[in-house]
Amino acid sequence: MESNLQEWLSSAEETINDRRVSAYLEELDEAMRKQLKEEGGDICDRSHKTTFQQIAKILLPVVDKRLKNYAEEWDEVSRHHKEAGIYRDAVGFFKPEEGLLVDIGCGGGRLIEELPFDSVIGVDINNYCLQFAEEALKTQGRAAERRSRTYISFHPERGFVLRPYPIMEELDFTKIQLLADDMEDLRNTVRVLYNQGRKADSMSFMLPGGHSAQLVEFLELLRRGEPRAYLTHPYKWVSELATKICKPNGSVYLGLRRPVINADTNTLVSADVAAEYVQKEIGNTIGIERAKYLDLIQENGITGINIFTKVIDYDDEGKEKLRDPTAEERGKISGQYINLLLIHGKVK
Ligand SMILES: C[S@@+](CC[C@H](N)C(=O)[O-])C[C@H]1O[C@@H](n2cnc3c(N)ncnc32)[C@H](O)[C@@H]1O
Repeated sequence: MESNLQEWLSSAEETINDRRVSAYLEELDEAMRKQLKEEGGDICDRSHKTTFQQIAKILLPVVDKRLKNYAEEWDEVSRHHKEAGIYRDAVGFFKPEEGLLVDIGCGGGRLIEELPFDSVIGVDINNYCLQFAEEALKTQGRAAERRSRTYISFHPERGFVLRPYPIMEELDFTKIQLLADDMEDLRNTVRVLYNQGRKADSMSFMLPGGHSAQLVEFLELLRRGEPRAYLTHPYKWVSELATKICKPNGSVYLGLRRPVINADTNTLVSADVAAEYVQKEIGNTIGIERAKYLDLIQENGITGINIFTKVIDYDDEGKEKLRDPTAEERGKISGQYINLLLIHGKVK
């Protein structure tokens, strides 16, 4: 499989040596020296630049390997989903109409495989996942073009990030296009659409989360020592993304690991009720029209995959509220409700 590692290493080195980044790292050195002096501690001659250079050399090969392992593991898990008909059933429920569809976090392309048309942009930050997708689609005899080169860059607010190479040339939207992009800002995808003066007719976001996000959030570890908050809210940005990339009235297809349990009866609430809560969380730029649950029993016991179960409870005034399950409830329901909540909405 093709690796981006050499490009990452040289782009990380270039980024660290960039004039503005160097100046920023020197500011960090200065602030650290000042703080140490105020605290009366030892004089420390650690330089942020050297630390980042060392971390890049040590960490990037590890990250590359983890992304590859993830892509292989997900390929296996999603093959079971495919065999169990999850993607076919999802497409049967969504009934996507012909037109340009953007599949965010497309992974190994399993949903795309089931789509009855080829005008699709599959987006993923993991170049190995995109290679699996290309292979699977080509095996199906479909024309898929892949552009999955990425590099390390510096973002003023987010720090060091993995960024795709910008795609400048026009893409053929009648074919399947597989692009590297980061769903947090989807710059490449938005640029590609903008260059062609169009927005997508629909967008899909299936099975986000899993153990994927942690792996692409490695650079965040350099800054905060922990992965980002959206891991627990994998669809936090959906409404913002949808308006960026979809036409008004375009369809949004969500497949969320999001069972909702009634705390009193320990039973799954209906998909419509669960979807009402999702509606509250994503705001009103998308109007949810229909919802349905599918079983995801294939994921039972797979470590690293998060099922974002919520519990409905009643407060003292009898008002319904949604909350995270307690440890005891978690124990009771674990492995019982591994459901995929399918939601079909429209961009307003
Ligand atoms: C659990 S997989 C789901 C794949 C596919 N949608 C499916 O249903 O088979 C999640 C995918 O999201 C991708 N991903 C995670 N974080 C991402 C990010 N920040 N930007 C782009 N893709 C991301 C991962 O690489 C992974 O392929």
